[in-house]
Amino acid sequence: MLVLGIETSCDETAAAVLKDGDTLLSNVINDQFGIHSKYGGIVPELAGRSHVDRVHRVIDDAVNKAGVQLRDIDLIAVTMGPGLVGSLLVGLNTAKGLSYGLNTPMVGVNHLEGHLLAIFLQKKIQFPFIALIVSGGHTDLYRASDFGQYKLLGRTRDDAAGESFDKVGKMLGIPYPGGPAIERLARKGNGKTHKFPRAYLEKGSLDFSFSGLKTSVRTFLNRRGRDDRVVSTDEDISAGFQDAVIDVLVDKLIGACEKEKISRVVVTGGVAANGALREAVRNAAQSHGLEASFPEKIFCTDNAAMIACAGHHKFIRNKNLSADSRTLDAKANLPLE
Ligand code: KG4
Ligand code: ZN
Repeated sequence: MLVLGIETSCDETAAAVLKDGDTLLSNVINDQFGIHSKYGGIVPELAGRSHVDRVHRVIDDAVNKAGVQLRDIDLIAVTMGPGLVGSLLVGLNTAKGLSYGLNTPMVGVNHLEGHLLAIFLQKKIQFPFIALIVSGGHTDLYRASDFGQYKLLGRTRDDAAGESFDKVGKMLGIPYPGGPAIERLARKGNGKTHKFPRAYLEKGSLDFSFSGLKTSVRTFLNRRGRDDRVVSTDEDISAGFQDAVIDVLVDKLIGACEKEKISRVVVTGGVAANGALREAVRNAAQSHGLEASFPEKIFCTDNAAMIACAGHHKFIRNKNLSADSRTLDAKANLPLE
């Protein structure tokens, strides 16, 4: 089965062709960093317009690179939420047009299910497992019992982890997205120079909170500007901030495994591209006897291969879905459970 995946939920216009659920024939990702970087975050109107300009070219590219024709596609899988409505609509309406024009079935995919199943592009993981989705919009812990069976165990109560990287990046004068640049700075810094607070919340809670950490970095930076005794480089601040995020993520991930008595974990989403997080999870997994898996970095950040993969499994589970899909609407908020 050949699945064309289309992803336009945020600031990446992406298309991919996946064969039989695990053989990736093409994966085209056109990011918009050049458009949004000077604003320090995503401007929704610009994102939507840019998707309109690019989506057909990106799809053509994905189909050509896969060495197939559009009429060979058996299923169109498209992100329907959560995300920016103006952006989602571009991918969704493009998928509907293709589905009508080619008489090809389509399925709407939850972007978070895409992140959660991205690992299956590389290997088959046995259920159940604990999934930590850490991205620009989400920091969620799920118990994944089977394809389509997910239970939310914890989530952020304020900022997402990636959002806090981007906001701290902005404070340090780094263009959007801040995550990869903070990781690079942190490699040269010493996280122990200044210890930023960790929000563990109530005992046993698997929720997260990163807004206090962000405020703490802002307060520290303000003091650094005014008080000569506060000496810390951007590298040290990046390392201290990153350590604080990672400590909490790893602690809650282990907590979720203990609570659910599960020994397999998958860490995914844009922030899972962070090398220090991957290493910390690997170390914690080793000392707790857990098996940890991460999608390759290119499958952690937004891409359409993961949407094709989730669409493939959703279609196999329920082939009748397709008839309704042409009336689907974009959803800014779309729970995964
Ligand atoms: O999954 P993703 O591409 O989009 C969303 O669904 O939100 O995640 C993007 C987020 C951004 O906040 C970005 O700063 C963060 O992932 N990110 C990173 C790294 N690469 C991307 N954060 C920390 N370290 C990285 N290497
Ligand atoms: Zn994402």
